[in-house]
Amino acid sequence: MQAIDTLVTRRSATALTEPAPDTGALELMFASAVRAPDHGRLRPWRFLVVRGEARARFGELLAGHLARSQPASSAESLQRERDKAFRAPMIIVVAAHVNEAVKKVPPIEQTLSAGVAAGNIMLAALALGYNAMWKTGGAAYDAQVRQSLGLGPGEVIVGFLYVGTDAGKPSVPRGEWRDLVREWDGAAV
Ligand SMILES: Cc1cc2nc3c(=O)[nH]c(=O)nc-3n(C[C@H](O)[C@H](O)[C@H](O)COP(=O)(O)O)c2cc1C
Repeated sequence: MQAIDTLVTRRSATALTEPAPDTGALELMFASAVRAPDHGRLRPWRFLVVRGEARARFGELLAGHLARSQPASSAESLQRERDKAFRAPMIIVVAAHVNEAVKKVPPIEQTLSAGVAAGNIMLAALALGYNAMWKTGGAAYDAQVRQSLGLGPGEVIVGFLYVGTDAGKPSVPRGEWRDLVREWDGAAV
């Protein structure tokens, strides 16, 4: 796929199935991720790949978060959280490694860079014949989940990228941008 076609047709998958990206594709996805603009050459990105049986343990983290944040949750709700881990053959956890000591690059810039890295992963997946969906939810911001994933202090999750082969409905046309753009000519407003 031409790069511009990937960019102007991208949409999230609504359903994903096997196969997950193979080793070569995954390497290209991470090679794309680390081309994210990176103020100060901080490389403020961390990536965790969760696949196979590890997804069951990931699902337990999601359910554990729900149980802690909403102790009255039903068994069905908790099971729904566990099942989320199996909605794709692969999950890539994207985290920003935020170094607050670097005053010239504020935390928001480091976090944004990780967001761009996540976007690059999604676009690369699409260009390589796969697709993805970007999810967060409360678990992404939960300290215990971060710790269970082995993320350290200063590492914040920007997304759980569910990745696989698109099994959803075809794309609907969208993407009107004209109402979002204006020319600024310098005249006072
Ligand atoms: C940082 C971030 C977090 C998101 N978290 C969720 C989420 O937890 N659940 C969800 O349904 N969509 C979430 N989304 C939105 C979807 O990934 C997706 O963009 C949206 O459903 C629109 O689909 P589209 O990408 O095809 O336009 C998130 C998007 C971003 C950028």
